[in-house]
Amino acid sequence: MVDVLLGLQWGDEGKGKIVDYFAKDYDVVARFQGGPNAGHTLYVGDKKVVLHQIPSGVFQKNKLNLIGNGVVLDPVTLKRECDTVAGFGVDLKQNLFIAERTHLILPTHRALDKAAELSKGNQKIGSTLKGIAPAYMDKTGRNGLRVGDLLDKNFTTAYIKLRLKHQRLLDNFSFDEDITGWEEEFFDALEFLKQLNIVNGEYFINEQLKNGKRILAEGAQGSMLDIDFGTFPFVTSSNTISAGVCSGLGVAPQTIRDVIGVTKAYCTRVGSGPFPTELENATGEELRKIGNEFGATTGRPRRCGWIDLVALQFACMINGVTKIVMTKADVLDSFSELEVCTSYRVNGKETKQIPFRLDRLPIEPVYKQFPGWNTNTTSAKTFGDLPQTMKTYVEFINNYLGVKVNFISNGPGRDQIITI
Ligand code: GDP
Ligand code: IMO
Ligand code: MG
Repeated sequence: MVDVLLGLQWGDEGKGKIVDYFAKDYDVVARFQGGPNAGHTLYVGDKKVVLHQIPSGVFQKNKLNLIGNGVVLDPVTLKRECDTVAGFGVDLKQNLFIAERTHLILPTHRALDKAAELSKGNQKIGSTLKGIAPAYMDKTGRNGLRVGDLLDKNFTTAYIKLRLKHQRLLDNFSFDEDITGWEEEFFDALEFLKQLNIVNGEYFINEQLKNGKRILAEGAQGSMLDIDFGTFPFVTSSNTISAGVCSGLGVAPQTIRDVIGVTKAYCTRVGSGPFPTELENATGEELRKIGNEFGATTGRPRRCGWIDLVALQFACMINGVTKIVMTKADVLDSFSELEVCTSYRVNGKETKQIPFRLDRLPIEPVYKQFPGWNTNTTSAKTFGDLPQTMKTYVEFINNYLGVKVNFISNGPGRDQIITI
């Protein structure tokens, strides 16, 4: 059985913390898409860790963690992260597995990402510059190199061939940064990667399923950043939605049981692109300050706004969400009034659907107001401990979405989560 946990907004919903919490109930945690553009924060004791490539189940005892074929892997980030994780006493030989079909991010992919973004000027996507789009382009363009290729004696020849192709593209962009340092690091990290458990991911995971093991598929980014259903072109380059699990791990659709969607009690976005409920005012500043909304991967300030139920309902629909986790509810503790976006007004017409190109339309969010709770909720342990005003807010969301908020996270700590 496979359960999926993924983000319902534009990323950074708190997936890392929630996967770490849920991992106790699973045997395997597997990443199925994305790469080092992800930054998943969790706490081990009082130490904060941000994971980019390694699944967030890695700190739970006796769990297997798989980096699936749908991921794009930067060996340099992976090596650095393995060192951090090993510093906590985690034995990666025992619990980290990498699918041989996983595509590699080369130093020139990072250079191409940077060059492409620069060339877009004020139309830039706001990419994390980790080489994600160029790596996925080489995958779909059938040029990419995969983890399994590392074990082939012709790997260096294939690398040089692809590097030359990239060089021509970089020359077109007039990109002339010296990346020899990046390449040295890369080749050093490849030697490290070869020592890890490289497996046939699809047989690995199906064997686990056959033996009755429970799998948690960990999403990266968020549904509104999905390459097909997100706010294209301001998206990432993979299928972040539940459909990506089958192709990103090699599991069949009927093995999937729950799709657990994570949403903040409000909304954030990092990078460019449409964000209808964005608050470019003191309230937005307040959310950023209290929520400490700065990117876990790039440190950029996150754009903040009210919760958007039009976008959330869309995300629930395309993912088939069965359970919702609402994170960062505590961030709203001190707001006297809250707003919830229930529809969009586009050229005078109200709609509850996501239009084709949000970025090209004047979208005016229609809000319903709710009183705030003005109570510190960070030490609440049960639903009963929560103020009635918060319950009203959550119940409205349940009714609108037709899917229940089953968990409320009321702080970044490992134990700050309430089951409803
Ligand atoms: P992810 O990418 O979805 O894993 O999320 P990030 O780690 O990028 O961002 C979530 C941030 O919110 C991290 O700094 C978490 O420590 C923090 N966080 C997670 N859940 C909560 C919560 O319920 N309350 C508060 N205040 N912070 C939280
Ligand atoms: P996690 O897993 C938030 C955003 C970038 C940019 C766009 C494309 O931590 O939720 P890319 O580097 O993928 O080409 O960037 O997507 N983005 C994220 N935003 N959280 C993430 O991951 C993100 N990964 C990419 O800011 O707008
Ligand atoms: Mg993040």
